[in-house]
Amino acid sequence: MVLASCPLYFIAVCVIGVIHGFSWGLNTYATQLFFDSVASAVSTKSGLTMVYISLAVLGTVTIGSQVLNGVHNFMVNSLSNRMPGHLGKYIHQKAARVEPVLYESPDLLDDINKAQQGAINSLVLLVVIVSLFTFYLPYFAFMAWYLYRLKPVLVISLVFIFIPVMITQLIRGAVHARLEDESAPLRREVDYYLRCICDREYFKETRLLGAYRFFKELYLTALKAMHQKKWTVELKTNLLELGMKMLTLAGYFGVLYLLFAALMNGEISIGSFAAVFASIELMFNIMEEIISSHIGRLTQNLGTVRNFIRFLDLPERSGSMERVSFTDGIKFTNVCFSYPGAEKNAVEQINLTIKPGETIAIVGENGAGKSTLVKLLMGLYLPTEGTVEIGGVDSRELSLNSVYQGITGVFQKYQRYQLTLKENVEISDLKAQDQARLSAAAAKADLELCPETFPQGFETMLSREFDGVDLSGGQWQRVALARGFYRVHDLIVLDEPTAAIDPLEETRIYEKFAELSQDKTAVIVTHRLGSAKIADRIVVMDQGRIVEVGTHEQLIQERGKYAQMYQAQAQWYVS
Ligand SMILES: Nc1ncnc2c1ncn2[C@@H]1O[C@H](COP(=O)(O)OP(=O)(O)OP(=O)(O)O)[C@@H](O)[C@H]1O
Ligand SMILES: [Mg+2]
Repeated sequence: MVLASCPLYFIAVCVIGVIHGFSWGLNTYATQLFFDSVASAVSTKSGLTMVYISLAVLGTVTIGSQVLNGVHNFMVNSLSNRMPGHLGKYIHQKAARVEPVLYESPDLLDDINKAQQGAINSLVLLVVIVSLFTFYLPYFAFMAWYLYRLKPVLVISLVFIFIPVMITQLIRGAVHARLEDESAPLRREVDYYLRCICDREYFKETRLLGAYRFFKELYLTALKAMHQKKWTVELKTNLLELGMKMLTLAGYFGVLYLLFAALMNGEISIGSFAAVFASIELMFNIMEEIISSHIGRLTQNLGTVRNFIRFLDLPERSGSMERVSFTDGIKFTNVCFSYPGAEKNAVEQINLTIKPGETIAIVGENGAGKSTLVKLLMGLYLPTEGTVEIGGVDSRELSLNSVYQGITGVFQKYQRYQLTLKENVEISDLKAQDQARLSAAAAKADLELCPETFPQGFETMLSREFDGVDLSGGQWQRVALARGFYRVHDLIVLDEPTAAIDPLEETRIYEKFAELSQDKTAVIVTHRLGSAKIADRIVVMDQGRIVEVGTHEQLIQERGKYAQMYQAQAQWYVS
């Protein structure tokens, strides 16, 4: 992904890294030259020219490697600053394409939560891996070669530096990945309880009901559980790290002894002794840097990186991208559907054909399966058994894009976008800039643009937070309706979009709707049976099944479920 986003820059970072790594190695070599020239100048009282030359070489190499260090760090940092935006794009694209029903499962919500974190952490991972291969590896390779030439046994020092560190970090990675999996649900809980206390949407109800302390308790309990888990893990890994460091330190002193012995035996020069002494120090520091600032952070976060990748790998629906034609209507054959993790079916054995241009009303008690049926007929969710054919094609074989293009809808849980009124209505097609279409949609939803409510007309900002106005529940619902009507469509789905609008007004909206959308297929879910009368056919649902289908008159005559419900509601108004 990084290569795709900025290839040249990335390659430049790698090349500078390699040169930088070698410059540290050269530094050791220049140190040796310098000390040897000083030693020989001291013992022979001559050859000062050599000292000056080697000093100049050492100076140049040191300055050069410092400059390279600065440039390399700068480039790595700016890469890390630029990339999160690019990686965020991959998450958004995926979230837009992932199978919608997964949003009903808590696992996906965890994954999205962790994927955001993982995207950033995978950058850290990349930077560490790239630095390891382009900077640290060349440096350590050079040092291994240098030490081997001096005295093969000295290469052991590198092993002592590497092995314990690697073991610790591997264990650390595994432990933290498990911690991440266990604490993600807790983190979601903590966030949610905090929202219940502080969020604008929640605080009114929370305070009024005196539930503040209840949520505070829940919040603190979840927070404590989360910290407890973290604390245990940190303690264990830090103890492990301490032990391994002791081992490394023992190795360090062992190497010093070996060096000293070699010097006394005359196997290595004073210059080499000084150079190796200095560079072992440096190697330890560098290793410390890799561990604490890179690998430590990295292995802690490896769990979220895995989540990021897992999220990008979630299944997507493939299939034809061509706009589906609704001319063949929609056909349900023996359809059953259950939500992820749910034990029983939300809808069962549904057989229904919706003809093009027909208006269907779906009625039934709470939890009867109306909203679920609607999501199936739009191809949003796929049936667990049976088939839903949209325009003659099995919904499993259609890409979401191809179905959505011809559909509009207003849902039970509609959104209140904090945008201007115009943007709220035109959101499905902001480029059109069609004033007539905008006004028509508003009129169809009976949205009156009185100056008291909408001081700037369509440009009024609908948000208190962004210096605008707030609307009443019924007004918001009309905005949502206007948004649904604005979109060019063959099929319109209205899932109780009028619950907050008074019954007389609702009837008027539906009658106007029926008149204006005669050629469109329409599916309306409503609890007010008076509004269902406008439909060509009424579908009555009960406990996930279709129990009656017919016109208002037919169903009244049948004296079944519909007739009962209608009687019960009519009484209110008649008396
Ligand atoms: N996300 C979900 N996970 C599990 N079960 C669900 C989920 N959403 C709904 N259900 C279950 O599916 C059944 C049908 O729900 P659905 O929302 O379709 O009912 P409805 O007829 O639209 O009800 P209402 O009139 O209250 O809107 C219910 O029993 C409900 O408990
Ligand atoms: Mg519903």
